[in-house]
This record gives sequence, C-alpha cells and structure tokens, in this order.
Amino acid sequence: MCGIVGYIGHRNVADVLVKGLQSLEYRGYDSAGIAVIDYPDEEKSVQSPAVHIVKGVGKVAELKSMLAASPVSGRQGIGHTRWATHGGVTEINAHPHSDLSSRLVLVHNGIVENYRELRAELSVPEERYKSETDTEVIAQLLSSLYAGGGAREMIGALVALHGRLRGSFALVIMVKDIPGKIYCLRKGSPLVVGFSEEGEALCASDVPAILPYTQDVVYLDDGDIAELSAEGMRFWSAAGESLEKNETHIDWDVSMVDKGGYSHYMLKEINEQGAVLRSSMARRLSGEGEVDLSAELPWTKEDALAWKRIHIVACGTSYYASLVAERFLETITDLDIRVDVASEYRYRNLPVGPDTLAVFVSQSGETADTLAAERLAKARGARCLAVTNVIGSTLAREVDDILQLKAGPEIGVAATKTFMGQMAVLYLLSLYVGKLRGTLTEAYEKSVGGELLLLPYKIESILQQQELLYRLAILHSDARDFLFLGRGVSFPVALEGALKLKEISYIHAEAYAAGEMKHGPIALLDPRVPVVVITPQDDLHEKTFSNILEAKARKAPVIAIASEGDRSLDSAADNVFNVPTTLPVLSPFLTVVPLQLFAFFVAKLLGCDIDQPRNLAKSVTVE
Ligand code: AGP
Repeated sequence: MCGIVGYIGHRNVADVLVKGLQSLEYRGYDSAGIAVIDYPDEEKSVQSPAVHIVKGVGKVAELKSMLAASPVSGRQGIGHTRWATHGGVTEINAHPHSDLSSRLVLVHNGIVENYRELRAELSVPEERYKSETDTEVIAQLLSSLYAGGGAREMIGALVALHGRLRGSFALVIMVKDIPGKIYCLRKGSPLVVGFSEEGEALCASDVPAILPYTQDVVYLDDGDIAELSAEGMRFWSAAGESLEKNETHIDWDVSMVDKGGYSHYMLKEINEQGAVLRSSMARRLSGEGEVDLSAELPWTKEDALAWKRIHIVACGTSYYASLVAERFLETITDLDIRVDVASEYRYRNLPVGPDTLAVFVSQSGETADTLAAERLAKARGARCLAVTNVIGSTLAREVDDILQLKAGPEIGVAATKTFMGQMAVLYLLSLYVGKLRGTLTEAYEKSVGGELLLLPYKIESILQQQELLYRLAILHSDARDFLFLGRGVSFPVALEGALKLKEISYIHAEAYAAGEMKHGPIALLDPRVPVVVITPQDDLHEKTFSNILEAKARKAPVIAIASEGDRSLDSAADNVFNVPTTLPVLSPFLTVVPLQLFAFFVAKLLGCDIDQPRNLAKSVTVE
C-alpha cells in the first residue's frame, strides 16, 4: 500500500523516481506523483530553489507521459504511489503535498489517526487546505515546528513531529531551504535507505526500488530519522540522539525483479515454484531427507518440551498455507495446534503465554494485522517465530526467531511462489518440532523428507501441461460463480484456488470443505456453476468422489484435480487434470499449481490486470 521513493544523485532524478515507482507498482495504488527541487548552481540560471510537483490519478505510465510532455530537472526528488485512505482518488489528494507556504514537500505512507485534532489545533482556515488528506496536515504541522534554522534544527523538528503524530507513518521530506538533503522518518510503515558506490542516496518503502543502485541497505526502525545526502546517510533516534545503523546485504539481484521474458510477473512466479522449493529446502533438509533447522533456530529439546501449544497466525494466502501445515503438524506432534487469521486472533481470549510457540506467517512481514497479533503474543511471553520472505521486514525484526522463505522477490499481487515456500518451510518446521519433542520416527521423517526433495521435479512436470489448463480456462471463463471443494489437506488448497480466481479474474468463487457442500452451497449448483474438486489419492478420496456425483446430479460441470493413474474420475468428472502421485500429506504442493495456472488463464482471457488487480495491495499495512 502506497509506494515511496526518494533520490539524490547525478542521474536524471525524474527517471529514477519513475523507475522506482514502477518497481513498487505491485504494492497497489490509484494515483502517482513526484516532486523535484531544482536548486541554483553555477551552471544554471536558476536564481532561487524551484519545487516542481507533477502528480495525477492513474498509473505510473501516465505520470511518465506527463513528465515527457513537461520535463522537470533537479538533483533531488521524492515520489509516491497513493492507495487512497483519507479523501477520494483525485489529483489534489495525490502526493507529494506541501505546507501552505510551500517551504517543504513530503510524501507519506500510513495513516495519522489524530489528523483532525491536529488540523483544528493548527488553526489554519479550512479553505486554505488544498486536499482532504492527513498528509497535508503533517506538512503543515512540520512547517510550524521548523523555524528555518537549517539541517540541525530540522532534526529537532522531526523529533517533535514524531511526538505529535499518532498512527503509522513513513515520511520522506524535502525542505526548500536545506539543499542537498532528504529526510526520512518512520513509525509503523516500512522505509529502507541505501547509498550507492556512485555517491547516490536513496530511500524507498521496499528494496526493489533501491536494488538497481545498491544491494546494501539500512532498514529504519520505528522512531528512526534519516538524513540522506550525496555525502552519505546519518541517523537519529526519536529522542534526537545520533545512531549507528547496520547495513543488511540483500541477496536478491535486480534481474529477480524483472519479468524474465514472461508476459506477467504472476506467470513467472508460478513457473519458479520448483526452484523456490529447492532453495527453501537447501541446507535444511539432507539428501537422506533428515531435517535440521538448528542453524536458524537455537531451540533445545527442553524448550520444545516446555511448549503446550502452537499458534500459527497469518492473513490471506499465508493463512491458507498455515491451514495446510496445521493438518500435517497435528499428525506428527502431540501439541495443541491452533491456526487463526491475524485480524481475529488479537481480539480473542486465547491461552497464549510462555508455553506457546507462536508462528507468524507473512510473505511481506509488513501486514498490519499480523504484526499486531505478534505484538500481543510477544507481550504475553510466547516464543515468537516469523516465517517470512523479507528478512529486513518489521515482523522479522520483532520476533525471537526467523525462518526465511528464500522465494526471491514476489511482485505479482496474487501470492503464488511464496505460498509454495511457506508450505515448505512450515512442513520443515513441523518435522523439526516433532523431532525435538520425540514424537516423530526417523523412518517417517525420512519418508516425508525424501519425498519433499522430489517435489520440485513433479511441479516442473505439471508446469509442462499449461496448454491443458488454458483450454480448461477457455471452457469456463464465462462462468460468474465457481465452487471449490476439498477435504483434509485439500480443503485449504480449495480455499487458495478460490482466492486466486477471485483476486485476479473478479469471478465469484467460494471454497468449502467438500462434506459441507450438502449443508447449503449445493443450492447454488446448476449447469452455470462449475465445481472444482481437489481430490488426490488419499483416505478421503472415496468420500470426495460422492460429492462429485452429487454435483453432477445437479448438472454442474466438474473439474477434478486428481492423481495420475486415477481412472475412477474419468466418467464422473467433465474434465480431469492429473498431478503426479506423492504422499497424501504432500499433495497440496502439487494440486495448488494447476489452480494457480487456471486462475491466471481465466484472468488473461478476461483481459484483467493480473499483476495488479483492482483494489488490492501486495502488503496490507493498515488494519
Ligand atoms: C494473496 O494472493 C493476497 N494478495 C493476500 O491474501 C496476502 O496473502 C495477504 O494479504 C497476506 O500477506 P502477507 O503474506 O504479506 O502477510
């Protein structure tokens, strides 16, 4: 949600900002803008600093066209993509925003909760505000806190600003009378800064905007203030004390954030899933299928034996990956396992304390609900573990332990390869906990571990059959409702398949535990409602088969996702897509792939904006 970029350096600033905003488009937005300050220098005829703000509703491509028509120049600038919260989607509400006297200009990600109170207190006549945003109030407040004393005074003004704002914010600010500097202030919303070998300073809400210039970045913590200039980066705490910050090396390179020859990021990411599984298992699973996470998790047998329960908390796709893992975990440990959506978890009265292992699953590590749930569990003394793709994320920095997904950057808004990585890491975690607690036999560990190692090849064989899924998509892309059904581990796969379809094609899709169909959803069935049934070879196959017959009796078209060699469905289902055989408990790693591709092809046939579906943001940083 909202993307921020800031740059000081020798390149064309507007180009760097536009490129940076494009690399953050996945975050979701409805308008975009930049501000560039042109300062007088010896070579220029400019007499006083000129602030150029160019902004508008729509995509960054439209901003780019506006800049092509009216170019701006300068050595430093800030850019923003806005996902509307306070005030409608209009050019005036788009960022950057200035204070009323245009002394400073800033961009903001987050929500300032006390902006009405501040607006009243600033006693500026209402009609003088241009926008409806909380951001313009921040600009005005900062202007009132800064008397014009230059860089040194600015830090004090930012400390005071931090003390006055309630809510979450990442702010990037340029002040007209402080040339060559960009200021950053962070609380709650992510902000990362970097300095290139060529003497360029950058800041952004996520690393893809910085990666073309440097792979060494500093993640700002809550309350941190940063000052960027061509000389380097300096940091202060919320109390105004000078800080030393450590750099994090990002092992993603810039090629990982392009489409690599694919038409869409989502398609690229679906096709990367075999590789994601391999890297998620590397150095964690031996060639014999034995799991060892001791290099990342400093847990002893005593720690693990002290736990009474495991809570797994997440949102959206990450929640569905957690539900898959729940079913595996409950078969190999004796612990009480509970999986919950983060937005509910924190409002329940659950037993959570020092005897709880609390696992927070989040691709981005920035999801506001998941962070709030983690803070609650931490305050109650639980051992908190993050399963995340982003090592420098807020979640990763707040927990006791981290297991990284190693999926590489995921740009498509619809999560695919990180679902795969999450399942892999959660399965390894499950095996490890079972091993530490002594509830897992070596033979079972090796049989699951050995089969996990084969899954990348099996996924790659599914990816060879994309043509078949494309044909299925042609058959069904005019449907307005879909039902997805599955039992056991296939139920969360059904949930994920339905989520993918609705997110990117806007077709209504509901998922049910197959046994629940006759308790209500069966009323919806008729020849216009396709039913996708996930039914790999397992103990529940016969029962799900009965549900297929029930759907067929209502003339609903049935698409079955089944195991290779299963002939029982040939006459029962209208279409069958086969996945390679595996252990029943590992089937989600395979059955989810055709569902992702099916959703992709349906959305493509419908002409949808697959990588940036309407209304969605890649990381949901508001509750
Ligand atoms: C997935 O396709 C969705 N875009 C969404 O449900 C996502 O999984 C959810 O917002 C959680 O995000 P996180 O993993 O970054 O916490």
